[in-house]
Amino acid sequence: MTDESRSRAQEITQRAIASFDDCASERLMTIMKSLTYHLHQFAKEVSLTTEEWMAGIDFLMATGKISSDKRNEFILLSDLLGLSSLQVAINERADEATESTVLGPFFVEGAKVFQNGADISNGAQGEATYVSITISDSAGEAISGVAVDVWGADADGFYDVQYKGDKLFNRGRFLSDDEGKVSFWSILPVAYPVPSDGPGGELLRATSRSNMRPAHIHFALAKEGFRQVVTHLFVDGDPYLGRDAVFGERDSLVCKFHRASGDETATEAKLQTSHYEIQHNFTMARI
Ligand SMILES: [Fe+2]
Repeated sequence: MTDESRSRAQEITQRAIASFDDCASERLMTIMKSLTYHLHQFAKEVSLTTEEWMAGIDFLMATGKISSDKRNEFILLSDLLGLSSLQVAINERADEATESTVLGPFFVEGAKVFQNGADISNGAQGEATYVSITISDSAGEAISGVAVDVWGADADGFYDVQYKGDKLFNRGRFLSDDEGKVSFWSILPVAYPVPSDGPGGELLRATSRSNMRPAHIHFALAKEGFRQVVTHLFVDGDPYLGRDAVFGERDSLVCKFHRASGDETATEAKLQTSHYEIQHNFTMARI
């Protein structure tokens, strides 16, 4: 940069930041001024070329085009850049609540409601797994009526919404009972690659990064009067723990999925053959 262009760049940055001076919302003004400042700093730091700027625009356009109500490539991008996990960390409170992690790109609003004990695998391939959770407050009191959204991939590492058509498996909503319990049958989660057929995958390939996530089941717990918990349960022993492509793993969320041998006397067919079981206690903080 010449001295003249450096001073021109400085002036542009100052004017762009000042353009938000009349914003009625103080918070929006703070965010936009800071975003503009750091965006300009970034461009100056890397001496952004016209081709690189255009490649960035094209990349964001492609991210929008591949997104739908069933796939949010912007969330994947945020996950892959560590922004989602950073945002979770920034908003963490010092309380006893179960630790949160990323929402991920495959949450779907309005999932089908199931009764406790239901099998949500709906034919998905994988090892049968019985999931049993209890939800309590920081004092250990059971919380009933918590809406619990659950979603997970199949044994091939794909979510239902990644398939063509209206597939539905390993996804559902439950309500915790009077003892704060929710239980269901699903499958043993496996490590899987994040979607590689869009801009997120392109970014990983171009930068020689791994696309693997350690095995997990997603949970989102909500009830009025309590802080929402958006989290995963990870499978203990997974080789990708500690090198999650989206930086989402947390020690407190790593659980033992026990192998249970079948009980021939059990009334429920699934219990008669060998399967996996997991039990976990969730804590929600009162607002
Ligand atoms: Fe996931």
